[in-house]
Amino acid sequence: MKTRLDFMKMKEKKEPITMVTAYDYPSAVLAEKADVDMILVGDSLGMVVLGYDSTIPVTVEDMIHHTKAVKRGVKNTYIVTDMPFMSYHLSKEDALHNAMRIMQQGGADAVKVEGADDVACIIEALTKGGIPVVSHLGLTPQSVGVLGGYKVQGKDAEAAKKLIDDSIKCAEAGAIALVLECVPKQLAEEITNKIDIPTIGIGAGAETDGQVLVYHDLIGYGSHKVAKFVKQYTNISDHIDSALTSYVKEVKQRAFPAEEHTFTMNEEELKVLYG
Ligand code: KIV
Ligand code: NA
Repeated sequence: MKTRLDFMKMKEKKEPITMVTAYDYPSAVLAEKADVDMILVGDSLGMVVLGYDSTIPVTVEDMIHHTKAVKRGVKNTYIVTDMPFMSYHLSKEDALHNAMRIMQQGGADAVKVEGADDVACIIEALTKGGIPVVSHLGLTPQSVGVLGGYKVQGKDAEAAKKLIDDSIKCAEAGAIALVLECVPKQLAEEITNKIDIPTIGIGAGAETDGQVLVYHDLIGYGSHKVAKFVKQYTNISDHIDSALTSYVKEVKQRAFPAEEHTFTMNEEELKVLYG
């Protein structure tokens, strides 16, 4: 399995790091088969597979449950799991306890936390405790209420300066990588050049050290609207829709199950049964 040192080397050699979300066993199996460098058990699972309208309702229990399923699906792929809303703000002790459970019970190799201001000291405490931390800056969905919506971050010079300072803060606190979400490409490039740890972009242009996308977005699975930064490599929903429609139709017409899907008793046994 790759370690944080391999990801550092990839940054040095300018070899792009690939990351994709997975929330369950089959998606984890397929992600590993496609040779992704890292799997993210993102709290986006709250919206994508649990049907909430934000990541706010997601709990530590939810993250452990999904991380366990992902862990069963991989042999040697690095797993990063999101610490959910408010699971790393109450105190260092609480953050350490929650991160410990996500690693010990879930099987994550690292945890991800959003923000820098009050979170830098948490990143440091977790790192000192032996827990690798991935930072997440830019559009941080757990703060959507404070940000006022899902919008591009760091567009003006002042906000951009703050994002650069925050990135340095996270790196200095010990973060092993930094996810940059929804920021202008020039800013993502500047941050990528300024810090030693790999940057992993989503809606952050092509110059970051790696890219991450939500599994369901990239395969076109689900009914939700996708952001401008998503590339849909296929539309699985169309295939599922057509399969389900055919199934319903064939059952109604008694076309399914056919002979080949059916078990039969032999004549002799039937005679014994009915005389
Ligand atoms: O939860 C998630 O899927 C994420 C990615 C968008 C980076 O945090
Ligand atoms: Na997330």
